[in-house]
Amino acid sequence: MKILQITDTHLFGHVAGRLRGVETDSSLRNVIEDAYTRVPDYAAILVTGDLVQDDNSGYLRFRSIFGTSLKPVLCIPGNHDDLDAMRLELNAPPFQICGDHKIDDWQFIMLDSYHPGHVGGTLTSGELDRLDRTLRDSPAHALVCLHHHPVAIGSQWLNNIGLSNTTEFWRVIDAHSHVRAVVWGHVHQPYDAYRGAVRLLGTPSTGAQFLPQSHGFSIDNRPPAYRFFELHPNGKIDTDIQWVSSLAAARFAAL
Ligand SMILES: [Fe+2]
Repeated sequence: MKILQITDTHLFGHVAGRLRGVETDSSLRNVIEDAYTRVPDYAAILVTGDLVQDDNSGYLRFRSIFGTSLKPVLCIPGNHDDLDAMRLELNAPPFQICGDHKIDDWQFIMLDSYHPGHVGGTLTSGELDRLDRTLRDSPAHALVCLHHHPVAIGSQWLNNIGLSNTTEFWRVIDAHSHVRAVVWGHVHQPYDAYRGAVRLLGTPSTGAQFLPQSHGFSIDNRPPAYRFFELHPNGKIDTDIQWVSSLAAARFAAL
């Protein structure tokens, strides 16, 4: 089963809205065109937060791009989202916001790590209980998704704005041996490591990227990207990042 992950789309209500030099709408459209072409048999799209850039009219734009999808579009909020506005605009299939979703032998658990008034994230006790309960009730291979990174990733400034209550998070994850991966957005760069048997995966934005291993805020000149997964019935994960060249993006924007 194949899955696409797109993240940190940072849309505005206005089609020409730019963030850090990138027109987020045309950049996203270019990324998904590449994804749909390379992975036409995907089973779902996973969107790991910051759908909009502090602009609730961006959700209408998001709906105009994904609303006709025949496959589920599984969304979680990031620090630039407004969960109420998101639920209001994306209130029917193909969209699902948070909750969990099962396809074949795999279960996707979408967590809300939004912490009001903070750039970093936190998981409420209710959200941690839901995670534990969902994992207890289902023997399927689990892929846990949240916006904020639950591990240090090598950049001081990003480490300061990750998930705050990582100890509590990992206590739940460690109690369930069928969690195969934890997947996030927020960091605008790739990350791929293991914590024991659990794969840890960060994914670049569909727009501008951050420079890995930088002490302070720093923009990378790498192009927009998405992640694709192949999830096997035995729990094995094949995954990689697909970078989408800015040349192609410019061509697409000119159409
Ligand atoms: Fe974020």
